[in-house]
Amino acid sequence: MPQSASEEELKLSRVVEEVRAGKRYRSVTDQTVRRLARAALAVEGGDITKATKRTKRGLHEIFGAFMPMTPKYEALLCKVREAVACNEPEAIRAALEPALKAHSSTRERLPILSELYDEIFARLGTAPTTVRDLACGMNPLTIPWMPLPVGATYIASDIDHRLVGFVGKVVTALGVTNRVEVRDLLTEPDPEPADVTFLFKAVPCLEAQGRGLGWKLLKQITSPVLVVSFPTKTLGRRSRGMYRTYSTEFSRRIADHPWKYDEIEFGDELVYIIRKD
Ligand SMILES: C[S@@+](CC[C@H](N)C(=O)[O-])C[C@H]1O[C@@H](n2cnc3c(N)ncnc32)[C@H](O)[C@@H]1O
Repeated sequence: MPQSASEEELKLSRVVEEVRAGKRYRSVTDQTVRRLARAALAVEGGDITKATKRTKRGLHEIFGAFMPMTPKYEALLCKVREAVACNEPEAIRAALEPALKAHSSTRERLPILSELYDEIFARLGTAPTTVRDLACGMNPLTIPWMPLPVGATYIASDIDHRLVGFVGKVVTALGVTNRVEVRDLLTEPDPEPADVTFLFKAVPCLEAQGRGLGWKLLKQITSPVLVVSFPTKTLGRRSRGMYRTYSTEFSRRIADHPWKYDEIEFGDELVYIIRKD
């Protein structure tokens, strides 16, 4: 028998409550938890226990797997503030490293950061005054490795309140004007253009939440320049032909668009710099 709307809402609230009862995903935005819980209930025929398990698995896949341990945000922030007070660039970078290593994407990117940003910024032409970093993880903490012009604004978002709160405080401590916010890109795609938008390693993660959704976001982003990257190794460090898979899929997906792009491979990351204008 089909369920009434109020019955469905009640079940949805129960699944969300169950997920929130554990510490792990307590601070992931309601938008994401509700979206995953709704889909899980549909697949599990309204079974709350199974839907709760499925929602947690989904949250692991799109968020938890990249940060297996919740970082000690307060302690990390203190170290960064102390280093900033000493005003020594090397000490600041060293203080940022533990936080960068807490997220798999930035941990993998750490050895190639200077080279990566030098190359990307050199290809941007004019220096950007606004940079947007979507599904950012800890990546805004790589600002000290970027040739970001003085006075530039850094706008970033991700789905977890604690992560986003921490990232915003660190970027502020680094003295960079910023707006760091909680945003689920699938319920609230980012409408405003920036001079350049970064979408690092996020497309596969969005595709895991709905086929075609990650690629659709590339079209929705209104910035004239978009830097998109893909992992070429799994979290377990296996390559499994990922370079070939993503480069083939990228060419196919953007074939209908008059965009120009450069492809560069850095470490375990395949990077595209797309010019839409
Ligand atoms: C592979 S990580 C990449 C992180 C960062 N861009 C980097 O490369 O350092 C994917 C990120 O996407 C975020 N994410 C997952 N689903 C999202 C969604 N629907 N909207 C916004 N961010 C999302 C996760 O929290 C995670 O930080």
